[in-house]
Amino acid sequence: MTAPQETVRRLGYEDFAACLALAQDRGWPAEYRAWDLLFAFGEVYGIDDPGGGLAAVIALVRYGDRLANLGGLLVAHRHGRRGLGGLLMRYATERAGTASVWLTATEYGRQMYEGLGFRATGTCTRYAGHLRPGDQPGRWSREAEPSDLPEIIALDAEVFGARRTEVVACLFSVAEQIRLVGGPAGIRGFAGVWRGVDGPVVGPVIAEDSDTAAALLSGLAPAIEGPVRIDLYGHRPKLRAWLEEHGLRDAGGTTVMVYGDDPPGDRARLFAPVTRAIG
Ligand SMILES: CC(C)(COP(=O)(O)OP(=O)(O)OC[C@H]1O[C@@H](n2cnc3c(N)ncnc32)[C@H](O)[C@@H]1OP(=O)(O)O)[C@@H](O)C(=O)NCCC(=O)NCCS
Repeated sequence: MTAPQETVRRLGYEDFAACLALAQDRGWPAEYRAWDLLFAFGEVYGIDDPGGGLAAVIALVRYGDRLANLGGLLVAHRHGRRGLGGLLMRYATERAGTASVWLTATEYGRQMYEGLGFRATGTCTRYAGHLRPGDQPGRWSREAEPSDLPEIIALDAEVFGARRTEVVACLFSVAEQIRLVGGPAGIRGFAGVWRGVDGPVVGPVIAEDSDTAAALLSGLAPAIEGPVRIDLYGHRPKLRAWLEEHGLRDAGGTTVMVYGDDPPGDRARLFAPVTRAIG
């Protein structure tokens, strides 16, 4: 086996299938919608495998000059522990050039990221199962309409800490449903469900508190077929209890890590990302 040259190049859609193959090499699903978002809104970098395909890949999604998200770091099993993961991480962090760089780390990655100067700031727990609605699921939330988009984009920007108009607008075309909770002073939260490769995925969920988040999830539940997953940021004991009462189980955690400044926005109201790689 020839060792890869340590040349990082920007990948394009022609490398899309090779990224999915790399994910499968590591036992991850070929989550093509999530990768599509990364190619559409981010910069994907990789290292070629001299034997064909890719040896390693990483995605950088920049949100203005204050915040960037890293995700999708994968090194082919056959090229592991040779420094390629660290190389791509350093490359992408430097390239981001933002005040804050943010990621969600698996146990494999966490130690390496700490060595690169990232610090743990919280948790992200995957919940999975058949989501049952609460009482009167349609009462507290309603389906979002295109005319709600400007207000949804504004709320997302306030909570996320950066305006990501294109990402949120794209959600309207890929999501199976988006619901919101309104209020006299404007939207108090919204949540979407989209179809992942192994079933429906709930995200993002932005809400002023756990009760609002539960109302959104309850409203989405009747339209969801089969087991769903959601990546929940933070401890959220009240919402976790609600999820467990309504059919979901803890399916494992990752660590939220930051390099540089704490992320902007109001992360307390960010309950779940669109995807972990996009934020
Ligand atoms: C996590 C992952 C990206 C790491 O990639 P990698 O290329 O193996 O990482 P590196 O080689 O740069 O560093 C990993 C370890 O190998 C060690 N290493 C690096 N070069 C080495 C060498 N020549 N010989 C032996 N060990 C070496 C590093 O010191 C590091 O060890 P440590 O974690 O004990 O400090 C890879 O294991 C992977 O794809 N895992 C599955 C997907 C995943 O979890 N991705 C992270 C998402 S957050």
